Amino acid sequence: MTATILVTGGAGYIGSHTCVELLQKDYDVIVLDNLSNSSPEALRRVEKITGKSVTFVEGDVRDRNILRELFGRYTFDSVIHFAGLKAVGESCQIPLDYYDNNVSGTVILAQEMAAHGVFNLVFSSSATVYGDPASLPIREDFPLSATNPYGRSKLIIEEILGDLYKSDNRWNVALLRYFNPAGAHKSGLIGEDPNDIPNNLMPYISQVAIGLREKLSIFGSDYPTEDGTGVRDYIHVVDLAKGHACAIEKLRTGCGLKAWNLGVGNGHSVLQMVAAFEKASEKPVPYQLVERRPGDIAACWADPALAKQDLNWVAEKGLTEIMADAWRWQSTNPKGYRD
Ligand code: NAD
Ligand code: UFG
Repeated sequence: MTATILVTGGAGYIGSHTCVELLQKDYDVIVLDNLSNSSPEALRRVEKITGKSVTFVEGDVRDRNILRELFGRYTFDSVIHFAGLKAVGESCQIPLDYYDNNVSGTVILAQEMAAHGVFNLVFSSSATVYGDPASLPIREDFPLSATNPYGRSKLIIEEILGDLYKSDNRWNVALLRYFNPAGAHKSGLIGEDPNDIPNNLMPYISQVAIGLREKLSIFGSDYPTEDGTGVRDYIHVVDLAKGHACAIEKLRTGCGLKAWNLGVGNGHSVLQMVAAFEKASEKPVPYQLVERRPGDIAACWADPALAKQDLNWVAEKGLTEIMADAWRWQSTNPKGYRD
């Protein structure tokens, strides 16, 4: 029998790529998304890529009535919970919105899951829960901390889910700590489509290359890294999406609660990213070196060995593919889903 997965936030960047992987593995997919940072066009494109249909419900994960209606209508095997707000800077301006969306949203979702006998949950956590790590690469047993409301919301949710599992071991929870998602589906049909000025490096570089923005500001050139710019573990979004399908399989074996890093296991600097994007796009990416961005760390990359061991998952795509796919998406959809 095919299993049905509820994907909250499934119209978003990582969610839409994950829907493709799930459909290709013959899961039935129901997406709940309030479209606060996404377009329903993403799901039409998911259907185009896979030749399968996605059931889309427009609504908020904090809305109990919608959840009750959904859990009453479908028998879910598992839930993947992407829905949430993710902009670090914005989270400092409107922290309560972040705690409400991210923390309250997860609490309400977990309550309704339990009430309807669904105990398998994949949660979108983040490498941000490691704060400024004392050493690299980062392992899952490193100390956790938060430096901004967004990161704190992820850390609080991890702790809440830990308490929940201790209280009732019917739960199976995968805390997936993503490093830096980048790239797009190779079809060029789906990709990252920021509503506003991008906060993150990759969409910003793409928009400079396509001519939507004049130049990139590189935040800090005096970090203790090879070339002075910040170093991150950029993981292809399709590899990340596949990690969710592996996590679902693991949950179904009854694994309890566990955290896994989803990263490649090595880092690239901002200047290396600019050079790689220029090569893939054959477009110049003008930049200026500016002050460090408050709250940024020098370098961050994963030790992904635990995910390999437990989930049988490894990132397969490298920087060349990330850049080629990011450029294909950006150049064929210069205004994202609004084209
Ligand atoms: P995204 O904004 O593209 O996707 C999130 C989706 O959730 C959007 O479609 C949005 O409309 C929806 N949403 C937000 N609040 C909602 C609510 N209350 N009810 C229903 N839908 C809601 O972001 P993404 O990059 O795909 O990230 C997905 C998840 O992964 C988020 O939880 C994010 O915090 C986490 N994450 C992202 C990154 C990253 O760099 N992209 C890194 C680590 C973790
Ligand atoms: N950067 C620039 N200019 C920009 C944007 C970013 O120089 O315009 C630099 C940053 O200083 C950093 C690197 O590019 O050195 C990556 O920055 P991002 O904003 O793309 O990513 P972060 O590592 O800061 O954070 C991202 C998500 C977080 C998540 C974290 C770990 O935004 O939500 O990855 O997964 F927690």
